[in-house]
Amino acid sequence: MTKRVAVIGAGPSGLAQLRAFQSAARKGAEIPEIVCFEKQSNWGGLWNYTWRTGTDEHGEPVHGSMYRYLWTNGPKEGLEFADYSFEEHFGKQIASYPPRAVMFDYIEGRVKKAGVRDWIRFNTVVRWIEYDEEAQDFTVTVHDMTRDHVYRERFDHVIVASGHFSSPNVPEYPGFDQFYGRITHAHDFRDAREFSGQDVLIVGSSYSAEDIGSQCWKYGAKSVTSCYRSAPMGFKWPDNWEEKPAMERVEGKTVFFSDGSSREVDAIILCTGYRHYFPFLPDDLRLKTANRLATADLYKGVVYVHNPRMFYVGMQDQWFTFNMFDAQAWYVRDIILGRIAVPADKQAMLADVAEREEREEASPDVKYAIKYQGDYVKELIAETDYPSFDVDGACAAFYEWKHHKAEDIMAFRNHCYRSVITGTMAPVHHTPWKDALDDSMAAYLRN
Ligand SMILES: Cc1cc2nc3c(=O)[nH]c(=O)nc-3n(C[C@H](O)[C@H](O)[C@H](O)COP(=O)(O)OP(=O)(O)OC[C@H]3O[C@@H](n4cnc5c(N)ncnc54)[C@H](O)[C@@H]3O)c2cc1C
Ligand SMILES: NC(=O)c1ccc[n+]([C@@H]2O[C@H](COP(=O)([O-])OP(=O)(O)OC[C@H]3O[C@@H](n4cnc5c(N)ncnc54)[C@H](OP(=O)(O)O)[C@@H]3O)[C@@H](O)[C@H]2O)c1
Repeated sequence: MTKRVAVIGAGPSGLAQLRAFQSAARKGAEIPEIVCFEKQSNWGGLWNYTWRTGTDEHGEPVHGSMYRYLWTNGPKEGLEFADYSFEEHFGKQIASYPPRAVMFDYIEGRVKKAGVRDWIRFNTVVRWIEYDEEAQDFTVTVHDMTRDHVYRERFDHVIVASGHFSSPNVPEYPGFDQFYGRITHAHDFRDAREFSGQDVLIVGSSYSAEDIGSQCWKYGAKSVTSCYRSAPMGFKWPDNWEEKPAMERVEGKTVFFSDGSSREVDAIILCTGYRHYFPFLPDDLRLKTANRLATADLYKGVVYVHNPRMFYVGMQDQWFTFNMFDAQAWYVRDIILGRIAVPADKQAMLADVAEREEREEASPDVKYAIKYQGDYVKELIAETDYPSFDVDGACAAFYEWKHHKAEDIMAFRNHCYRSVITGTMAPVHHTPWKDALDDSMAAYLRN
């Protein structure tokens, strides 16, 4: 009997998995039956923008954390698919920080070419997964929202690719219940123009804080105040952006910080990160991990040590994204196809996890972290037929990017880098990021 494999989610990670199997089939391998369940009506995961927040048209939590005017926050040269370059997709080299719509088009281009859309059951939410020890298979219960029909199917393997930047981590501070304005989490942020003319407080000091604050600044916020719990972002901010230490409490419209200072604000945006959240998994199958480079309980970053028939793709904190998901997807595919062996001994798998954790903890330096994840990508692709590429070159683009951000946080997206896939230099974009208010694909591609 043919093996059956369930893939949960058709975002970049799930699509990498479909492409991995399709590429093996194209080379003549016999592959299992693949069924991908996607709760949204289209593929692309977070890159499939929705205006909705809260609950969707079916009453399900909205997955998307994506917002209007988002441009990639790292150079595209760090994430380019090794088997499908930007030049192949667009017919020319394009600038280095594409907006969402351009990225969506690129992601979609590869899987359209691969012809895997029929493997996906859209508008279908995975509700529950159980493992049957005796039969050694999984029963997956799903809800087909189009037909309003709940059904169960059995699979030999489950690959969870449901993302981990969707369920918000929402802290509460004293006085929030009395705040005279809107408090929202980055997950529900959609359009910076909503905050134009306002004094905005951004809570957090990571990528969402930096980018959402920058969007608000670009689209006309009167002022931006950002506050940090552990460490400041420390960039050279524009005159109407001030960075403060931790928020302590709120009274009316006034926010008080740990250095004794205070500030009146109209809106508070919590850029306080996300949680790995898998409401469709029981305790014995559910990954419990912090957002870090060495995820807990995943051998080689993908095999669930407590049940090695189950895999997780894309669960790490991310410097590398699309090409790392590819590296993982090809690796998982080859385990399922019997080309790569997983240790039979659980202790050996746990030792692999511990070694990765220790190595991650050896240095807090950002350059070290980028190289660490680059080495991980190299490690995986060395064992499969994923096209090898210059991972060190991609790391070098990330180092340069860090340097450009330190130079001018509102101008780093004006720089360009060389593709490690085609060797071509990206053109300088026609308009500086701060002046480019139209984020459409037509506007971006107009070189
Ligand atoms: C605001 C924001 C901006 C980002 N910007 C960048 C960037 O500029 N560059 C970059 O490289 N990365 C960026 N990222 C990182 C992002 O994690 C990756 O780019 C990528 O989207 C991760 O892909 P994924 O498939 O793992 O997860 P997702 O993109 O989240 O896709 C998961 C899919 O699983 C589906 N799903 C979830 N639960 C279920 C269920 N129960 N049943 C069925 N389907 C389900 C979802 O609907 C979704 O389609 C950003 C993240 C955020 C939050
Ligand atoms: N393309 C883009 O421009 C773009 C935009 C947004 C996001 N993203 C991506 O989205 C992903 C998630 O980024 P993220 O910034 O949302 O999450 P994140 O990197 O996990 O950062 C979470 C932030 O929240 C802070 N925080 C957590 N709990 C807090 C609390 N109780 N009080 C105050 N601060 C708290 C953390 O502070 P500590 O340091 O103290 O823990 C940290 O600064 C990243 O991959 C990022 O690249 C990309």
